[in-house]
This record gives sequence, C-alpha cells and structure tokens, in this order.
Amino acid sequence: MEEQGQKCRRVVLVPCPYQGHITPMLQLGSILHSKGLSITVVHTQFNSPNPSLRPEFDFRSLPDGVPDHIISTANLVDTIALINVNCLAPFRKCLDQMMEQHGQYGEIVCIIYDELMYFSEAAANQLKLKSMILRTTSAATLTARVAIFRLKEEGYIPLKDTILHDPVPWLHPLRFKDLPVPGIQISESLLQLITNMYKIRTSSAVIWNTTDCLEKSVLTELQQQCQVPNFPLGPLPKIAPSSSSGLFKEDTSCIAWLNNQAHKSVIYVSLGSIASIDNRELVEMAWGLANSKQPFLWVVRPTSINGTEETDLLPEGFKEAVGENGCIVKWAPQKEVLAHSAIGGFWSHCGWNSVLESICEGVPMICRPCFGDQWVNAGYVSQVWKIGLELGNKLDREEMEKTVRRLMVEKEGGEIRHRIKNLRKEIELSITKGGSSYKSLSELLELIN
Ligand code: UDX
Repeated sequence: MEEQGQKCRRVVLVPCPYQGHITPMLQLGSILHSKGLSITVVHTQFNSPNPSLRPEFDFRSLPDGVPDHIISTANLVDTIALINVNCLAPFRKCLDQMMEQHGQYGEIVCIIYDELMYFSEAAANQLKLKSMILRTTSAATLTARVAIFRLKEEGYIPLKDTILHDPVPWLHPLRFKDLPVPGIQISESLLQLITNMYKIRTSSAVIWNTTDCLEKSVLTELQQQCQVPNFPLGPLPKIAPSSSSGLFKEDTSCIAWLNNQAHKSVIYVSLGSIASIDNRELVEMAWGLANSKQPFLWVVRPTSINGTEETDLLPEGFKEAVGENGCIVKWAPQKEVLAHSAIGGFWSHCGWNSVLESICEGVPMICRPCFGDQWVNAGYVSQVWKIGLELGNKLDREEMEKTVRRLMVEKEGGEIRHRIKNLRKEIELSITKGGSSYKSLSELLELIN
C-alpha cells in the first residue's frame, strides 16, 4: 500500500455495481487521489470492478447475497433493494476492520456512496463517519423522478399517448415523453427506491456529475430545497485522468479502422452497457446505417438484443453490403473513440455518461433513449441544448437513414455541431480556475479535509 507507514487520509467509495455508475465513482476517486487523498473502493461481488485497472486504490469486496436468477437488467430495482439489505452488516464490519487497522490504513475522513447504495449511510452513521452522496445522473433526472409522485396523484399515470408531446406543466421544458416513466405501471418498489435515493438523511453533502453550464436552473432549485451543500463538479470524464474502469473488454482494433476514415465522417453507434432492443430494431438499424452510406462504428454488445445471448444477429447480406464502410465491435474504448477526429456523430441511448462524454468532445448526437433517465437526457439534448436529433417512434430504416444524413451531412447537422462546440468551450471554462465546477471541487475538498 502506497501510504504504508505514513499518516494518510482515506476516502471510502461505494459504487453501484453497473458500468454507468462505477465509471463516475472511479473518476471521482481518481480526482480525489490526485489531490492527496487515499482511496478504498468497497464494492459488491456482483459486477466487481477490476482492481488492476486502478492499482493506486485499495479494493474490498462485500458479500451481496444476491441470487443469480435475480441479477438481470429487468430486475434492476429488486437487485438494488436486495443489495441495500444484504450489504449493510458486511459493510459495517469492513469499516470496523479498517478503523481497527487505523495505523496501516490511515484515518477514514469520508464515505462517498452512490445514491442507490444508501445502506452505506446507515453504516457511516453507526460509526460516526462523515458521508456524502454521489448522484451519477443529471439533476433534471432527479426532479423528473420526484415528479412521478405528483403525476401519480394527479392521475397522469399511466401516461396516455395523446399527451406525450405536451409539456409537463411544472417541469418546463420536459415533455411527458421525456419522463423516466417505465412501462405501463409504476411499481411500489420503484417508488420506494426513488424515495430512498432522494432522501439526504444525515449525509453532509451531495456531489453531482453535472455542471452549472448544463443545468444551472435545476441545480439552483435543488440547492434551495436541500439543507446541505450541493457540489456540481462535473463533467467527471473531462476532469478525471483518463483510464478505463471497464466491466467489459475493450476492442481497440476499431481505432486502426478509424485512422483510415475521413475527418468527422463516421457515426459512432452505441447503446451503453445495459439497454437492449428487439431484433426488428436491430435489423432496421443495420439497414438504416448501410443505406445512409456514412461510415459507421457500431457497438453490438452481446445481450443487447432482447431475449437472446446470440451475438451474430445481423441480417444476412448486411456485412457484405457495407464492406469496409462499417466496423462492428462488442465493446469500444468509447472515450478514445469520441475523441477521434474521424467521429462526426454519436447515435446514443443517452445514458448520462455517454451524453457528458459526447459533449466534452463536441460530438453531436442522435438520441435513441431506451429506459429511465435516458428519456430525460434525450429531452435535454434535443430540446434544451439542441445538440442532437431525436429518432421518431417508428424506428424504421428510412427514418434512421434520414436522421443519420441530417446530422452528418445536412446544414441542420452543421448548426447542431456549432452549438455543441460552444457548449464544449463553456464546459472547459467551468472546470478551469474561477469556473463553477472548479469552485465546487475546491469546496468539496475543504469539506472532506
Ligand atoms: C446506466 C444507465 O443505463 C444510464 O441511463 C445512466 O445514466 C447511467 O447508468 P449505461 O446504460 O451503461 O448506464 O450508459 P452510460 O451512462 O452512457 O455509461 C456507459 C459507459 O460505458 C460510458 O462511460 C461509456 O464510455 C462506456 N462504454 C460504452 C464504453 O466504454 N464502450 C462501449 O462500447 C460502450
């Protein structure tokens, strides 16, 4: 251990075990480590991060007791609820041990937990340790999630098709279709989860992977409702030293393919680590991309097609039709891809990390949200920041081909590209001295120390 024998100050991080949550937590850890703090990551056995990717951190695993059959993306809410029940006692024990070995590990100055891992706060309280919440989604997502209670009370749920394009009266500028409302009904367990993640309880601060230049008004409103300081210090992918935190093995061969493509000609297509689509949509995507004639880099993740583990589901004749014009991988080094000069657009499910990474590289988007916060993010990308295009409901090849061409070659795409470049500049200013995110990070460090 790097600080052995020295007095060190240690922050314990508790990520939620999904890629889109592990990434920002480890990015925050890298930032805190670069400021002289020691880092321990306490994680579940399920989806455990690879310690060799962060040799500078100490990793500890908790028995989560979640049975294999429940671990599926369809069961996210149940999985999270079970982890919160099962991990409290082992986490408390783990902290006890670290505190006993104080001489070796240094003083625990703070526990930072993903908003979904709220058992951490109970353990921190029992041991009188300071705790803080990391919110890994956009601020607008939190307000939209909380709005579900009111929508339910006022009889809007289940949402009727006729109102989907109307604005939600008290959530301007979101439309009903942008709400993170899954399926037909809202389960009691989901409402309970939202309540638990929204509550601050006794934590002493809320850290946000967002920034004033993206969400100033929502952040101001949330701070007014909150008793403790909020630190919007993102975007983390821009501030953290770049390194992989992957649960999946990256196929870097696509970089050599990108090196042979023209400047800003390639559309990158990825639906993140969890989202899945049906086979019909996959086939339409394939032909939409092929017919657009734009070069494309497409991440087709095994398990990204509903109800099958098969990996080769691309339609017959497709690979021959596109030849060298397309590159297909199972998992890409996304940050590197988005930073590549050949990339001109990102067809995305609008997971919050993907949206931030795209903005940080000035890459305009095509939005194909699949669930939860992705609808809210897509609403902001297309309607508020106007840095991307929405795919319509039909999801057929003609519409996909047209949308790719609108973004990549038409005048409209040029305007969108111009807007995202400006936003990227604002973000760069926010993280440099005097900027809002820079200030938030300094204030956070003061509070931790
Ligand atoms: C999940 C939720 O689905 C998302 O809505 C929420 O905002 C965060 O948690 P995920 O679907 O995986 O995340 O999407 P996203 O937030 O975009 O995170 C995916 C991460 O995986 C990104 O950091 C991206 O760079 C990385 N990635 C994705 C790769 O490195 N390679 C790939 O091929 C695809």
